Amino acid sequence: MAKIDLKILKKRAQKEIKKTKDLKELDQVFRKFLGKKGELTQVLKSLGKLSKTRRIKIGKEANEIKNFIKQKIEQRLKKLSPLGISAKEEKLLDVTVPGKKPSLGHLHPLTQVKKEIEKIFQGLGFSIVEGPEIETEWYNFDALNIPKEHPARDLWDTFWLQNNKKIQNLLLRTHTTPVDVRYMEKNNPPLRIIVPGRCFRHEATDASHDVQFYQVDGLMVGKDISVANFKAVIENFFQEFFKRDLKIRMRPSFFPFTEPSFEIDISCLVCQGKGCSACSQTGWMEMMGAGMLHPNVFKACKLNPKNWQGFAFGVGLDRLAMMKYKIGDIRLFYNGDLRVLEQF
Ligand code: DAH
Repeated sequence: MAKIDLKILKKRAQKEIKKTKDLKELDQVFRKFLGKKGELTQVLKSLGKLSKTRRIKIGKEANEIKNFIKQKIEQRLKKLSPLGISAKEEKLLDVTVPGKKPSLGHLHPLTQVKKEIEKIFQGLGFSIVEGPEIETEWYNFDALNIPKEHPARDLWDTFWLQNNKKIQNLLLRTHTTPVDVRYMEKNNPPLRIIVPGRCFRHEATDASHDVQFYQVDGLMVGKDISVANFKAVIENFFQEFFKRDLKIRMRPSFFPFTEPSFEIDISCLVCQGKGCSACSQTGWMEMMGAGMLHPNVFKACKLNPKNWQGFAFGVGLDRLAMMKYKIGDIRLFYNGDLRVLEQF
């Protein structure tokens, strides 16, 4: 093997490496010289056939050239592809584009609305209180001035649980009002709480009724808490929740646990009170039940109704969410359809 051959080979390799335009070409050059059957590999393989002195000399030179070519290829590689991708791919790549965000889950719209309600009431000094979804007949009815056999029980279609009736009759709570009683048993007034939670009713489902739904009960008790306090609190709440200036209206109603009882309407969110199809031309939308706590409820909590008075209210959380986001069917909150949920 003539010395001159190696020198020429080195020059050729160098030239060809320089000429490469992409990784594919560079790979071809690599194979041509350093691959299994590459030119330089052949030289190295044939060293054994040479005399010892030539073998040492040529071997040394060939190895140096091998390292040289490797080094040149690496340099070229960095030039052709600083990111380790082909020139073609690189053309398509804009490194200044922000990366793809992994899509994270988010809170259910009802949870978002619940949190919003909690925040508004916390701002008004109310504490958040929770209670059990499986409730006793006593808390759900009796303590709320709804005795057994009283026709008012028909207002709440109840899921009764099968259990050992010798202990207590159990049911799925039909409203969050029983938590008001639970709280007043353990905490002395003055107090201000709201009770968000899931309730259940044994009803046929339709666009505005489901067997499960959420309520928020509210309770404020003190020495001289009046209807005026209620009106101020609730008007403030609705204005903050719907983020607009609106009016409220109170109509007489009936709940066994309040006296007097009211139904609360707000001025129509669609027509601002002028009258439209959303409010059946009345200018008002029905929002919730409320009233001044009945003396019998205080008594059930071992509080003297002569010393304390206060207001209570109960509002459908689903209904609030439906009105806020203009959703026409309560069942959309519960069937887990991502096309709906991902909009929030
Ligand atoms: N618990 C009632 C219901 O489920 C709603 C309600 C009305 C709650 C008046 C109250 C209240 O606290 O004062 O229909």
